[in-house]
Amino acid sequence: MIDWKDDMAIGIEPFDREHRDLVEAINRLHAVATGPADPAAFNVAVDRLIHITEEHFTHEETVLRHHGCPNLGMHQREHDELLDDVTALRLVGDDLEEVIGMLEMLRDWLHDHIVHFDRGYRGCLDGKVIQ
Ligand SMILES: [Fe+2]
Ligand SMILES: [Fe+2]
Repeated sequence: MIDWKDDMAIGIEPFDREHRDLVEAINRLHAVATGPADPAAFNVAVDRLIHITEEHFTHEETVLRHHGCPNLGMHQREHDELLDDVTALRLVGDDLEEVIGMLEMLRDWLHDHIVHFDRGYRGCLDGKVIQ
């Protein structure tokens, strides 16, 4: 559903890896939602996407706060909005058309977020060791 695009690489390895995992989890959920009905596999794929989204946002926010990077409040609000949308996937579980529409929106959102927000903190984290 989405390919990893080179403009999504920000050059900070742990975050690039987590972004790639997010792309993979969106694609996995899309494959389940468009395949033969399998509610158990669907729930596993939704839970995984929610879980790794939460983990990634917490990780990013912790690192940005630690290094005093600018625009953290705005960045966090963007994360909170996306997390609300990701969590909402649980509620529309049996409306697959709606799920697919939401995944397409999430895909575009993730790409725009990485390109416009996450790339913006590269300068602040330049030369820092990120774990
Ligand atoms: Fe990110
Ligand atoms: Fe972010």
